[in-house]
Amino acid sequence: MSEDDTTAVPTDEELETVAELSKRRGFFFPASRAYGGVAGFYTYGPEGAALKRNIEDAWRDRFVTQEGHMEISAPDVMPEPVFEASGHLDGFDDMIIECPECGTSHRADHVVEDATPVEEAESLPIPEVEALIEEYDLDCPVCGESLIDVPVEEFNLMFETNIGPGTSSPGYLRPETAQGIFVEFPQLKQYARNQLPFGVAQVGTAWRNEISPRRALVRVREFTQAELEHFIDPETDEPPLERVADVELTLYPADEQEAEDGDYLTMTVREAVEENVVASDWVAYYLGLARDWYERVGVDMDRFRYRQHLSGELAHYAADCWDAEAELGGDWVEITGFAYRSDYDLSKHGQYSDEEFTLFKQYDEPKTVERATVDPDMSVLGPEFGGDAGAVQDALYDLVERDPGAFEDDTVEVEVDGEPCTVDTADVNFTREEVTESGEHITPHVVEPSFGIGRIVYTVLTHAYDRDVVDGEERAYLGLPAEVAPRAVGVFPLMDKDGLGERAREVETDLRQAGLAVFYDDSGNIGRRYRRQDEVGTPYCVTVDYDTLEDDTVTVRERDSTEQARVAVEELPATLTALRTGSTDIADL
Ligand code: ATP
Ligand code: GLY
Repeated sequence: MSEDDTTAVPTDEELETVAELSKRRGFFFPASRAYGGVAGFYTYGPEGAALKRNIEDAWRDRFVTQEGHMEISAPDVMPEPVFEASGHLDGFDDMIIECPECGTSHRADHVVEDATPVEEAESLPIPEVEALIEEYDLDCPVCGESLIDVPVEEFNLMFETNIGPGTSSPGYLRPETAQGIFVEFPQLKQYARNQLPFGVAQVGTAWRNEISPRRALVRVREFTQAELEHFIDPETDEPPLERVADVELTLYPADEQEAEDGDYLTMTVREAVEENVVASDWVAYYLGLARDWYERVGVDMDRFRYRQHLSGELAHYAADCWDAEAELGGDWVEITGFAYRSDYDLSKHGQYSDEEFTLFKQYDEPKTVERATVDPDMSVLGPEFGGDAGAVQDALYDLVERDPGAFEDDTVEVEVDGEPCTVDTADVNFTREEVTESGEHITPHVVEPSFGIGRIVYTVLTHAYDRDVVDGEERAYLGLPAEVAPRAVGVFPLMDKDGLGERAREVETDLRQAGLAVFYDDSGNIGRRYRRQDEVGTPYCVTVDYDTLEDDTVTVRERDSTEQARVAVEELPATLTALRTGSTDIADL
């Protein structure tokens, strides 16, 4: 057992320690250092790549396999029309302010948030941010020059590129993996046999040309998202809420954030839905599912909350959004967004492309409905409206669908290019008829949990970092859940002599063949070898000693408690698997 209960590591020191540990032990480090490096790009080293992959696998297990969704892998580069339709070309901007003295660009909302009590400055319009800079007399954080009267502007975050030679075919590195799913909806709905609801997931790279990357993996320019787009019929589809109804959530709704004495609400998913704190049952379902998943991968639930977006903060596509936030170094950091995207994306792609982004929904029983139609007489409209006749015809088709009552009078008015055009109703062959319909074309709504894997890796590492005292010596360790720890087990010979090394190598091979990620270490004293594994979060270590040569048993040592047990070599793979999955405990061995 540890001799001391762990003492909390101060948060300001925590991030520095984790950054140092991450670099030294190979979790992550700034990329391309040999060429001076460039801000916002990180390489995951061997430990970090394994941790990241394990978190992604745990995500797939929970949000794809267990939920029965599909997963796809779409390209990173997409042509410009995709982002015209999605609204990213026009609306995917951050506020930039450039220091007139040193030329450094800053995110204006961050300049305000860092130096004033104002929170969520991102939700404010530009003139208000400029006014705050003046009110608080804010200076450039780099050189100290005054930023008063320096204009704040919009800066689009997408990385632009050219597809093929020349500049005739601009493309963009996707700023969210989601668009790769939306544009394939016409194919994907067929794989789902045209049945709602269905979910499509993607784990892949997203790119944002962040104005000022910072806080290690928190704000980078290339990062991995794990996104799920759940397509639903909002009229009829309901989530399986009973599965998560009793999960307890810490919620920070928009009205509590805006109230002077606002506070967190702690309530179950069921209560959050019944009391309408979370408006969408689907979003509430995912908040419940995700809360347990975060705990599973090692996010500290005492440093976690769900915060609703303020209205000015909502992305251009979102009708409502809750962020999962983790406390890191004393600040709250968004690690996942849960957005109700309504039919925004599919409608836009339907308007901008030549494909149908709707789905035919069969009624339970055929319905008899009245349908109004027009068949404009072009031999009259042609001479009357000349070059505009086609546009007048389209406007009439559109109007009869929206407002058949408009055709009840002798004349009907439509608008073409902002100009009113009056048509005699007698010339449009207006009819009403009863038809039997077996279904209708609907545009599904989308509920989207969007996880940033890098921020989750960073959170899990930071929350796992701990110190205690073992055998009179302070040790640092990562209390990572076994499922996500980079290595499953360390294998050591007590000494590399008398056949111990050979026997330990055989144990290593057996464990590898059982599918476990093993780290073999025979350098330094055994205490140091334990410490090395503790520091990268390896949950179990196995030591081959002189007793092994006598009775074929080894010592298994657990990381957090440092408890040890003797286990027969032939039972080792099964025992370690049981320990890792929690079906047995070291104390029971
Ligand atoms: P922020 O407000 O912090 O910029 P965001 O609201 O722009 O985040 P979303 O657009 O909702 O983030 O993206 C979904 C997820 O992708 C986020 O929850 C986050 O985990 C991740 N993410 C977004 N931008 C970055 C980034 N620059 N670096 C790392 N991860 C990011
Ligand atoms: N897909 C949500 C976002 O990245 O903005």
